[in-house]
Amino acid sequence: MTRQPLLIGNWKMHTSLDDALALAQGTAAIADEVRPSVDVGVCPPFPWIVSIAQKVRGTSLLIGAQDLSADSDGSFTGDVSASMLAPWCQFVLVGHSERRTVHQESDEVVTRKVRAAREHGLGVVLCVGETAAARAAGRAESTVSGQLESALIDVSSDDAATMTIAYEPVWAIGSGTAATVEEIQAMSGTIRRWLTSRHGLVADGIRILYGGSVSQHNVRELFDAADVDGALVGGASLDRGTFRALVEAAIGSR
Ligand code: 13P
Repeated sequence: MTRQPLLIGNWKMHTSLDDALALAQGTAAIADEVRPSVDVGVCPPFPWIVSIAQKVRGTSLLIGAQDLSADSDGSFTGDVSASMLAPWCQFVLVGHSERRTVHQESDEVVTRKVRAAREHGLGVVLCVGETAAARAAGRAESTVSGQLESALIDVSSDDAATMTIAYEPVWAIGSGTAATVEEIQAMSGTIRRWLTSRHGLVADGIRILYGGSVSQHNVRELFDAADVDGALVGGASLDRGTFRALVEAAIGSR
């Protein structure tokens, strides 16, 4: 099955409103240019989402949130619910390692967030990945399989078909050292086999992204990995020219 490449810029806690609007407009122009060959999305900081969604309405740029609350509403100071995001976003990142480590998000919370997103029709980009210590101990694959097992425990095959998995080894994020294409393919293959064991043929259509120090220098070989369908990009998505180069690498890769 042919899977459409997908590139997502995760802006994390960067940009001013002015910077964000300019970057979103520039990225939307790229998204329009490469349509229908490549899908392009961005995950701006929460306060900019509404302004950006209004600004890029009618373009091909997909808008995602970086996180969401596991709860639907109530006394949860600082949290943002799926129903607040759904009018403005097409998808949401769930289980990013910066949420799992900095905010001590457990597998159980990640499971609840996947459920909350699905209940409100938001696409899910589920982030999984092992720490350096887990890899050194030979537990990289079991860590990632365990994260999938837990997060997708009650997800039907119909729902799984709409989801994206992002493999982001914790040690590669922001480190300047991406995983090798062999490591990325090995883990993406493990992820696809896990998905196939649960959801059969549906797994063939599920996109798997790689994230962790993706740059102009390593993006091309990323697409050599048979099970990799795109990238979840942090730092390199904050510059329009650099992000354009990444998107261009995806054209014709499939
Ligand atoms: P970098 O591309 O900056 O390593 O960040 C990756 C990431 O965490 C994307 O979600």
